[in-house]
Amino acid sequence: EVVRLAVIPGDGIGPEVVAATVPTLRTALEAEGHRLDVASYDWGGERYLRQGAAMPADAAGLVKKADAVLFGAVGRPDVPEHELVWGLIIGLRQQLDLAVNLRPVRAFPGVPTKVRDTDGVDLVIVRENTEGEYVGAGGVAHAGSGHDLGIEVAVHSRRAIERAAHQAFALAGRRSGHLSLVTKSNAMRYGYPLWDRVVREVGEHYPAVRLETVLVDAMAARMIQAPRSLDVLLASNLFGDILSDLAAVLAGGMGMAPSANVLPGADVPGIYEPVHGSAPDIAGKGVANPVACMLSGAMLLDDLGHTGAARRVRDAVAATLRDVRHHTADLGGNATTAEVASAVLHTMESQ
Ligand code: NAI
Ligand code: MG
Repeated sequence: EVVRLAVIPGDGIGPEVVAATVPTLRTALEAEGHRLDVASYDWGGERYLRQGAAMPADAAGLVKKADAVLFGAVGRPDVPEHELVWGLIIGLRQQLDLAVNLRPVRAFPGVPTKVRDTDGVDLVIVRENTEGEYVGAGGVAHAGSGHDLGIEVAVHSRRAIERAAHQAFALAGRRSGHLSLVTKSNAMRYGYPLWDRVVREVGEHYPAVRLETVLVDAMAARMIQAPRSLDVLLASNLFGDILSDLAAVLAGGMGMAPSANVLPGADVPGIYEPVHGSAPDIAGKGVANPVACMLSGAMLLDDLGHTGAARRVRDAVAATLRDVRHHTADLGGNATTAEVASAVLHTMESQ
């Protein structure tokens, strides 16, 4: 079988971590008797400076020819933020209607963390990816009058909640059967109570999954104090965004955090990307941690049904991380991106 992959390396460390990842995916697939076919797109900051747009108008149509998209990161100091964040990554997610964002967090043995006692942490945040507080509804009234009023309206639709909830229950059913819904229904009166109600209704289709509802502030504390009590979390766009950066710390930080943007049950390619950005402070030095991107690639293989190849990638990453000589600077080591990549490949070849 041939896996057709669209690759968007992007800016800064994006191309560095993607270059470290593609060969690991290829090697893992070939070990299982499959092939990888890559189409690479030069979308991002440089293209914006050259042509005035970060990606072509028919970008979604182009990537739809692929089975999945591997995305690095975008962002550069000399290009306005919204041209790349909205003009590319959020724009593409919207064009493909990728309703759900999956953010697994797993503490690998041997990886140091700033939080104590994270052994065995293994959780997934399922984040609604299209609405909530991030719809851009609102405005500033009485601007400049001294009585300026910023109004930001959150929108929560039954349809979006249901899509995310089905994904979360199904995932919890394949894992420990425990789902934690994160809301704030004591202080907010309309949107989050709707979440509580709709998610409970969806849960009736998944009797084997135990649902608990946790307020977001309590969840933040619990994530640090008792992270092993968590398995699958379901959260709105805003809460999922905040909690997933917090959760990433449990695994060693941004260099360790993969993600997937998917539309369950539909025939559109998912976008798999490290959670981190283009990291201009370390770009060009060859020292970025490629693990977040590699683990995003493993999620991609899993979702395409190539679970054996995905396991090869994850096992090789785990084995590589046991040795501190393969830790990049963000983990307190001094390995380069290329050294991590060749250690992972080497481990895979000797598996
Ligand atoms: P960032 O994630 O790029 O960097 C935050 C910090 O984490 C930096 O100190 C960086 O060196 C470090 N870091 C991130 N990834 C790392 C890795 N793989 N290995 C080692 N260290 C790593 O976030 P920041 O600085 O807020 O944003 C930089 C640019 O990236 C901005 O232009 C922003 O808009 C963009 N960005 C893009 C995203 C995307 O493409 N999906 C997501 C987040 C930010
Ligand atoms: Mg974020």
